[in-house]
Amino acid sequence: MRENVYILAIESSCDDTSAAVSCNKKILSNIVATQEIHKKYGGVVPELASRDHQKNIVPVVDAALKNARISLSQIQAIAFTRGPGLMGSLLVGASFAKSLALACRLPLIEVNHMKAHIMAHFIEGEKKEPDFPFLCLTVSGGHTQLVIVRDYYTFELVGETQDDAVGEAFDKAAKILGLPYPGGPLIDAYAEKGDAQKYRFPISNMPHYDYSFSGIKTAFLYFIQEQTKQNPLFVQENMADICASYQACLTDSLLKKMMEAARQYRIKTLCIAGGVSANSLLRKRLQALEETQNYRIFIPPFAYCTDNAAMIAISAYFKYLKKDFCSLQVAPLPRLEIK
Ligand code: KG4
Ligand code: ZN
Repeated sequence: MRENVYILAIESSCDDTSAAVSCNKKILSNIVATQEIHKKYGGVVPELASRDHQKNIVPVVDAALKNARISLSQIQAIAFTRGPGLMGSLLVGASFAKSLALACRLPLIEVNHMKAHIMAHFIEGEKKEPDFPFLCLTVSGGHTQLVIVRDYYTFELVGETQDDAVGEAFDKAAKILGLPYPGGPLIDAYAEKGDAQKYRFPISNMPHYDYSFSGIKTAFLYFIQEQTKQNPLFVQENMADICASYQACLTDSLLKKMMEAARQYRIKTLCIAGGVSANSLLRKRLQALEETQNYRIFIPPFAYCTDNAAMIAISAYFKYLKKDFCSLQVAPLPRLEIK
């Protein structure tokens, strides 16, 4: 039998400071400190994010160890997010992880944040693991990617957004509607009671399996400006319908390319990952494909959709099995690619 491997993982790529402790594929603790400061600015302010990471990192790591009832002396490796993300934010997590690894003489494992979102599917829990190969739609505030996952270590990017991420399209629209950051979950909540057929926004048709969301975002802005000129109360009076219609168009766009890629590559196992995979319409429409079109569908639990260190820990576990450690010289990479 394999020995138990305890890993302490740190995630600080954007505006959540998170630490997790894992034992093999099980998560013993997963602490996330969400930075509230960005709400009033309508988006993440990089300088403020790195300052908050500095404040949060020690208490968050401390809480992760305490909640897991594991002492630092039991940890066998330290993992951290190397990128992609904001440089100032990544630096806090990376520097902390390196210092701790050096002080405790532990191996260091660097993790790609986008791969980690996908790897969250392998965290031991109630749900079964997806079978290989599978197609994963990774949707977050900074990325929109279609990735074929051949095994735990092989990721093939087949398409991605050429401009804004879908999370950004949610958040920017929410800002136009006067909602605080991050607006994605609020659009989701308002949409629940709205009529998704009421308004239509243009879906871009990019070549191959790529996406584009800058057009729909601009169309949304012009639409709201035009309507409020005629009726200043337009947004208040139609919030649910606006949110439902916009959300439906974004979801149509996401699923259209995903299904084309699934057919082309003959893949019957489909997954979603990243912050936007918490969206209820996306989850519902994907789930429906299991019944209607015979796909196997895998959707992560809510806690592992948005940024968290549990996904960094599970990714690090598979790297640990291959003794894939990194040196203390390794630097964060804000534009780290998935390949
Ligand atoms: O993966 P994530 O936590 O951070 C990044 O790596 O970017 O994703 C954050 C994004 C934000 O744009 C947020 O608005 C969006 O995920 N999001 C949602 C929902 N929950 C989070 N978008 C739509 N519906 C949701 N329920
Ligand atoms: Zn993320």
